[in-house]
Amino acid sequence: MYKRIKGTLDIWGDDIWYWYKIEKTAREVSMRYGYEEIRTPVIEPTELFVRSVGEETDIVQKEMYTFEDRGGRSITLRPEGTAPVVRAFLENAMINKGFPQRFFYIGPMFRYEKPQLGRMRQFHQFGFELIGSSSPLADVEIISMVNRFLKSLGLYRFKIVLNSIGCPKCRVNYRNALKNYYSEHYDELCDDCKRRYNTNILRLLDCKVDVELAEKAPKSVDYLCDECKKHYETVKRYLKIVGIDFEEEHKLVRGLDYYTRTVFEVRHELLGAQDSLGGGGRYDRLFEDMGGPQIPALGFASGIERIILAMKEEKVRVERENPHEVYFAVLGRKAYEKAFKLAEEIRNAGINVDMDVMERNLRGQLKHADRVSSYISLILGENELNRNIVIMRDMETGYQIEIDLDYVVEYVIDKVKKEH
Ligand code: HAM
Repeated sequence: MYKRIKGTLDIWGDDIWYWYKIEKTAREVSMRYGYEEIRTPVIEPTELFVRSVGEETDIVQKEMYTFEDRGGRSITLRPEGTAPVVRAFLENAMINKGFPQRFFYIGPMFRYEKPQLGRMRQFHQFGFELIGSSSPLADVEIISMVNRFLKSLGLYRFKIVLNSIGCPKCRVNYRNALKNYYSEHYDELCDDCKRRYNTNILRLLDCKVDVELAEKAPKSVDYLCDECKKHYETVKRYLKIVGIDFEEEHKLVRGLDYYTRTVFEVRHELLGAQDSLGGGGRYDRLFEDMGGPQIPALGFASGIERIILAMKEEKVRVERENPHEVYFAVLGRKAYEKAFKLAEEIRNAGINVDMDVMERNLRGQLKHADRVSSYISLILGENELNRNIVIMRDMETGYQIEIDLDYVVEYVIDKVKKEH
């Protein structure tokens, strides 16, 4: 028998209701803030991610699903959604529609990571991007949206952590400060950090091994230029005004290279090692780096699988629909002919009808109705048909009555809509 690829999931059964709830909430919250959906391909040219996410990042170095297609092109399964949105924006000349432009997306992403709880090789993100504004008000909008999205899902035990890593101008001084600091501790560094010391010094702050060193490292906020400082202060001030709690974390640098100024992450208290429900930030240089004009932008993406873990931890109840509201038990050829017509009429009224297609005996059919938790069963055999009635059985109480066949549709609609 075939097995699914390591780090992927089949999504079905009870879990599907969490997906519906999250996808519905994601769309509703997006619309509430004026965001429109964009769907980009799952495959993109490899170079797109190398240029945007960054050559020295873990994603590009060791996590991409990259292959050569039959035409000899290097293709990558998207590891994230921001670079594809930027590509689509430039390629489709969306700039002609003016600013700001707001997009959201929901879909699968792929990273070749070591699978564990909350860390998959195929996972799904709900992300949104606000393109064209350099104002701190845009940062506040994105963070408010994140906050509303998670609260609308019934989540409370999360925190928003915030930092500013400045613009390329302030980054020069900050990098130097980090180099000085870490050069004094070079021998203590893990092998990964020794490599990153030369290639991407900011990522040393992210190291899971050298945590204490990172705690005491120089802070990016102390090296911000006046404009970046003002931007960051305004973001914080507005977050307080709109009543969104956040914590500042000077070690927060994020794992993708395209960020400038504001970066943030959402962490959940009950998730353990993979506690990041989502992350985002500004990327004011990315459009330019990808060959476009200078366009400021920012965004956020959350991991849906992790949100589900968090919802389960917080015991959030999700609504379920019953696809088997009415079960139609039928016996005999003539009765099937009538029942098929009646079932369609009940479905026309928006009620879910599960009808026997196994041609089982009555006991077997009612057992099925019980197993799938139907509210009511309709029983129609040759005998009932001859008497122009159908038997209605309330599956919860066992109560049964005979209903005139001419009124059965109205009766069922009324009963199901009133009682469920
Ligand atoms: P990211 O931090 O790489 O950011 O991913 C965002 C979220 O995706 C993570 O916080 C996590 O919830 C989820 N995630 C990432 N990797 C995995 C995995 N292997 N398994 C399960 N969940 C995972 C980005 O992707 C940026 N594009 C976010 C962004 C949008 N920045 C600006 N705009």
